[in-house]
Amino acid sequence: MGIVAVKDRLIVALDVDTREEALAIVRAVGDYCGLFKVGMQLHNSAGFGVTEAIMALGYPVFLDLKFHDIPHTVLQAAAVVSRKGVRMFTVHATGGREMLAGAVAGANQAKGATGEGPLVLAVTILTSVSQTVLNAEIGLPGTVAENVVRLAAVAQAAGVGGVVASPQEIRPLKQRFGQELVVVTPGVRPVWAAGNDQARVMTPGEAIRAGADYLVVGRPVTAARDKAGAARRIEEEMARALAAPIK
Ligand code: C5P
Repeated sequence: MGIVAVKDRLIVALDVDTREEALAIVRAVGDYCGLFKVGMQLHNSAGFGVTEAIMALGYPVFLDLKFHDIPHTVLQAAAVVSRKGVRMFTVHATGGREMLAGAVAGANQAKGATGEGPLVLAVTILTSVSQTVLNAEIGLPGTVAENVVRLAAVAQAAGVGGVVASPQEIRPLKQRFGQELVVVTPGVRPVWAAGNDQARVMTPGEAIRAGADYLVVGRPVTAARDKAGAARRIEEEMARALAAPIK
């Protein structure tokens, strides 16, 4: 994965409305986390300029816009964000293999001298989708876990490099794909933080020990009075988990 330090595995989600708020968080916690996630709230409010401003400060960006469209459109959108230099971006695996391959082809157009384009991440089944919703509303048979692993396999076959997965899905994905698929995990809550609306959480240490490659943390850092201190404590917990033998 080319990961060099623990802090490079901590992604802080900038779920705010303005460029000023976002850049204030970046400046506050940048010593303790390696990437920042720009999602649809900040992107649609502040535009691509905020991503460019974060990158200009020296931090890579995970652009979480979850592309889901016909393959040609996704390829073009992937090429645009890749040429602009984002480190990672997301697509919905339910768009199917050809759409996923389009995202990879778009990302590959931006491969620089190092040969590295951005990491394409597939979202499988949203964690907000329950078993009942999956089967009765969306109409997909099988359990959520079965669908997550099947869609991850489709993504991998299309050349996608990683998946966004809830804490519960880390172990089944790592058992099936090992290092072949990078696992990025939100829904992480340190014991000292509020749960907010995250239902099934793991601590940073638990998620790292389960095999997560990157953790996405939002409010425990961004809503903390001492944002830098919160990020530092999470980074330290991750480091302790990495140093301990895997159980
Ligand atoms: O504030 P919090 O730590 O809950 O933020 C988690 C971030 O990860 C948010 O940006 C949220 O959209 C994202 N996310 C998530 N659960 C998923 C996928 C993405 O919480 N299954």
